[in-house]
Amino acid sequence: MAEISVYPDPAALTRRAAEMITALAAEIVPVQGRFSMGLSGGSTPRALFTLLASDDYAQRIPWSGVHVFWGDERCVPPDHTESNYRMAREALLDHVPIPAENIHRVRAELSPAEAAQDYEQTLRSFFAAESDQTPPRFDLLLLGMGDDGHTASLFPHTAALHEHTRWVIENRVEKLNTWRITLTVSAINAAAQVLFLVIGSSKATVLRDVLHGPYQPGHYPSQRIGPINGRLIWLLDAAAAALL
Ligand code: 6PG
Repeated sequence: MAEISVYPDPAALTRRAAEMITALAAEIVPVQGRFSMGLSGGSTPRALFTLLASDDYAQRIPWSGVHVFWGDERCVPPDHTESNYRMAREALLDHVPIPAENIHRVRAELSPAEAAQDYEQTLRSFFAAESDQTPPRFDLLLLGMGDDGHTASLFPHTAALHEHTRWVIENRVEKLNTWRITLTVSAINAAAQVLFLVIGSSKATVLRDVLHGPYQPGHYPSQRIGPINGRLIWLLDAAAAALL
């Protein structure tokens, strides 16, 4: 069952997300020895990353045990303005003492097929899958949602939505005339916690349709997200939640 929380403004939502991440990392690293977190891309998480790098939070997070991944990536080099890795590096990773080997970026400079294969191998090595069928169990996956109901790079009516075996796949997004690399639904739904961050009035209509409308997972890929054995949490600001 999804847990939905609404905050008066983006700053309040961002603070709550930072508190949740900090608490999770501080709780899990001493117990498990590491904390695996998948970052979302786009514009929404930038403020969160900047806050996590601030004095209010950075010193409370055991960075030596934090391992950072990405839920999806654009098929561009790591220094490209469109790169989700670059945004996270500039807003967060360059400002905290996280070991370089704990940063597991998608090598999106490769061809789409090679980048997907390479990143899946990275996940398989890190999560040391007991068997091929055991998807990666991220401690936390951050997700955003587009105004078309996509999440990660699982866009409406795209081939990636029909992949049930692989953990990572290259996905042709015709409407953007581009390729993307994305975790599959199976990989996302194996996570212990999935945290959607949705901000702004432009998301209000699609959020109402995703959360309260009929189940149309091809049209609204975000409807496919539901951890099999984990928590699904939506953090919304008032503008995004206006039609709920
Ligand atoms: C990406 C993201 C994508 C994003 C949504 C929302 O690579 O763009 O992973 O899924 O979360 O498109 O983007 P905004 O936060 O910019 O609205």
